[in-house]
Amino acid sequence: MAFPKNFLWGAATASYQIEGASRQDGRGECIWTRFSHTPGKVMNGDTGDVATDHYHRYVEDVALMKELGLQAYRFSVSWPRVIPNGTGTTNPAGLDFYDRLVDELLSAGIIPAATLYHWDLPQALQNRGGWLNREIVGWFSDYTDQMTRRLGDRVKNWITINEPFVAAFVGYTFAAHAPGYSDPRAGLLAAHHMLLAHGAAMQVIRQNVANSVAGITLNVSWVDPATSSEADVQAARRHDGFVNRWFIDPVFKGEYPADMLQLYGSALDDIDVTEIKQAAVPQDFLGINYYTRNVIKDDPNGHYLKTHEIKPEGAGYTQMGWELAPGSLTQLLVRLHQEYAPKALWITENGAAYPDPDPVNGMVADPERTDYFKTHIAAVEVAIQQGSPVTAYFVWSLLDNFEWAYGYDRRFGIIHVDFKTLKRTMKRSGLWYRDYIAKVTAG
Ligand code: FCB
Repeated sequence: MAFPKNFLWGAATASYQIEGASRQDGRGECIWTRFSHTPGKVMNGDTGDVATDHYHRYVEDVALMKELGLQAYRFSVSWPRVIPNGTGTTNPAGLDFYDRLVDELLSAGIIPAATLYHWDLPQALQNRGGWLNREIVGWFSDYTDQMTRRLGDRVKNWITINEPFVAAFVGYTFAAHAPGYSDPRAGLLAAHHMLLAHGAAMQVIRQNVANSVAGITLNVSWVDPATSSEADVQAARRHDGFVNRWFIDPVFKGEYPADMLQLYGSALDDIDVTEIKQAAVPQDFLGINYYTRNVIKDDPNGHYLKTHEIKPEGAGYTQMGWELAPGSLTQLLVRLHQEYAPKALWITENGAAYPDPDPVNGMVADPERTDYFKTHIAAVEVAIQQGSPVTAYFVWSLLDNFEWAYGYDRRFGIIHVDFKTLKRTMKRSGLWYRDYIAKVTAG
């Protein structure tokens, strides 16, 4: 086994996707409340109002984590639950909830890892421009200060922002996520502020948390050209710049990639790109969320990157239409190690959606999901053998949950949730993961 002794095995969730209780105990509105209540934005008109009701059922959920033998649990804090207006007065009931959750985890012997921003921006801040307002760097630092002071004695592992690519580009350029803008310039500006906010928050975490372990989580893809033609190779390089390097380079090198600066050109006019050096604060790990690879073709009629993605025939796909590509995960982990030399890599999310059958006799049969985990964990092991410093792996997700624009239509959990009764039922993949963790950590 290539996994080092102190390797962490866990599962991940995010506040808006599981908590529910969206109008209770003083929680403020968030951009996803607003977005999901706007007709036509989320499949079947689903919202996160109730979600899995984890806010009320966290004790049961932690007991399930313990049953699974999880060593670590990655959750996110709902900013509007703890600071309803985004800035200023804190909400005692919200802060208490995270206190109780953390204490419950610790008494179950599970290490907490907290993400500060997993997309549920307070609507009150959106009303002031949200991620397009430069002041958000300060707002986010203040919020980080509150949370790290409150939990930092018990929570050592911190993730600043989850997937700035998705939060900025899917939310501001492609309109598929909250707040639903379709303006490439806005996407770039939001991303810029997220990266600056990450850098600022890292400093706050360092000040407030003794022995902190901190980093950012990026969604990274392995990118292959559709053919070996020079045009497709260049197209793949642009796509890599768009998804990967635009975020990894700032965090490690304090600069945006030169080829992409040139490509975006005047779309960056509102941004002082030299400020990006503030994003390069030494991290203890780079968090990566991995689901699939991208196969890219040159396309003169494509959107502003002049590319389009193709879906190779004969490959396997999950319900999201994401190609099964575990080998690309190995390649990606080795590449990150070789090009950026992170101190450590954490896989903060990895998993698959499938249309699971209903529970039968207290069990859900989901062989494809188990297979996904087996092949991807094996791919991580190969990367470690090739020198990549991977030290943690979190499955996405602990529970079936509100899958953003897909609502409750896509299930990623290793635990099934009946969205009518909110009853939890173990899936076979959860049992497989439990047995795997037990085996790999034995002796
Ligand atoms: C990632 C998100 C996570 C979940 C998975 C499927 O992009 O971080 O919340 O929706 O995708």
